[in-house]
Amino acid sequence: MAIVLSTAAMAQSQPYPEDVQFPPGWGAPSPQPDRIILTFSGDPSRSQSVTWRTDTSVNAPKAQISLAHGAPRLRKTAIEVPVQTTVMDGRQVLTAGVKSHYHTATFTGLQPGTRYAYRVGDGTHWSEWLQFRTASAGEEPFTFLYVGDAQNYIFELWSRVIREGYRNAPDARFIIHAGDLVSDAHDERQWSEWFMAGGWLHGMLPSVPVTGNHEYRPLTAEDDKAGRRSLSVQWRHQFTLPENGPAGLEETAYTFDYQGARIIVLNSMMHQQRQRDWLDSLLRGNPNRWTIVSFHFPIYSTSGNRDNRELRELWKPLFEKYHVDLVLQGHDHTYGRGRAWSFPSNTGTGVNRRDRKAGTVYVVSVSGGKMYDFKKSGWDNYDAQLERKAENTQLFQTVHIDGKRLHYRSITAAGEPYDAFELRKRKKGREARFRERMPATPERVHDNTVPHYH
Ligand SMILES: [Fe+2]
Ligand SMILES: [Fe+2]
Repeated sequence: MAIVLSTAAMAQSQPYPEDVQFPPGWGAPSPQPDRIILTFSGDPSRSQSVTWRTDTSVNAPKAQISLAHGAPRLRKTAIEVPVQTTVMDGRQVLTAGVKSHYHTATFTGLQPGTRYAYRVGDGTHWSEWLQFRTASAGEEPFTFLYVGDAQNYIFELWSRVIREGYRNAPDARFIIHAGDLVSDAHDERQWSEWFMAGGWLHGMLPSVPVTGNHEYRPLTAEDDKAGRRSLSVQWRHQFTLPENGPAGLEETAYTFDYQGARIIVLNSMMHQQRQRDWLDSLLRGNPNRWTIVSFHFPIYSTSGNRDNRELRELWKPLFEKYHVDLVLQGHDHTYGRGRAWSFPSNTGTGVNRRDRKAGTVYVVSVSGGKMYDFKKSGWDNYDAQLERKAENTQLFQTVHIDGKRLHYRSITAAGEPYDAFELRKRKKGREARFRERMPATPERVHDNTVPHYH
């Protein structure tokens, strides 16, 4: 698919007039580790990757890990593991303008279901000891978080969403970011906002980042003129991800299994056909009870005149054929949740609705401060029923998987329940049953919320 970006869309990547300002040098790298972030690059029950940033003076980085214990002398029980350093030279890149070092350690040979403490540094400058828990070896209950576009007003407004998410699900095992983490792919200030908004959470709650269109921007003025766009120069340095996707999509299409759930991240920006074949192979041989797929451009759009027909035609048949449970998306800066018409409700309405065949549940959500209008026609032109929607609302989602039951909740930035449903699945490889759990609160729209436009 050709990626065409209008001048109007490009203009959106410029700072908004009401964006908060930061003093010169704010967010610049130093010898002190920052942007410390956990990601999975292998089996989450046996390994854990951590990546961090320093200035270019740090050339002998260190990472230490210990079984977590209550005694303070963690350094006595810790071992050191090898660290790899990469140089991120963004000095010639529009809006990046900095050279820094990124360091990665992958802790391997870990015990499943075990809490570890780690720290990173250079032997003189150290991070605090941060803790994480490995996945269990088999199917066990767990919760994860999912958020839509952070993208704008990240420090000012996304911060409260990720923190409220953590408050609601303090034991969440990872967080899916469904694309457009920032507005301008290469912008150091925006990445600083993203890392500072999450703070130490990024070092304790593994991130599962998805690329959106805003992760692709011109590197130079010449690229801009020629309409060429490249993946965020920071992306592959700062996120250490499984390299198990199709060629050409390293660290932007990948998969991992977590305690009975298969998580598949797709890159909706490019190589859709190649990813279809890969997706087919992952779904065909899937031994997990639950399957969750995340990418940025929605199958069923929720705002403006947007539509992603090509993706719908290519990928949706596989979701339905293999009973993918959840498709978690972003891009449309509104909230929408629903299912294809081929799975109609057969008992009850509203909160009493139950369906013997859930089909795939499609969600679009937004977590940052930029808000759009919901599509005037809703999903009328789609082969799908829209079951809950919202405008002008920052949201996060928790998904709790407990054996045969999956419980989804969407919660506002203020901690108010906004949407919920439950899936039950007796047998692996079958589709789930659906149970509506939506709270009886009014639909949130621009007209009944604090005005967004002025
Ligand atoms: Fe977006
Ligand atoms: Fe987007």
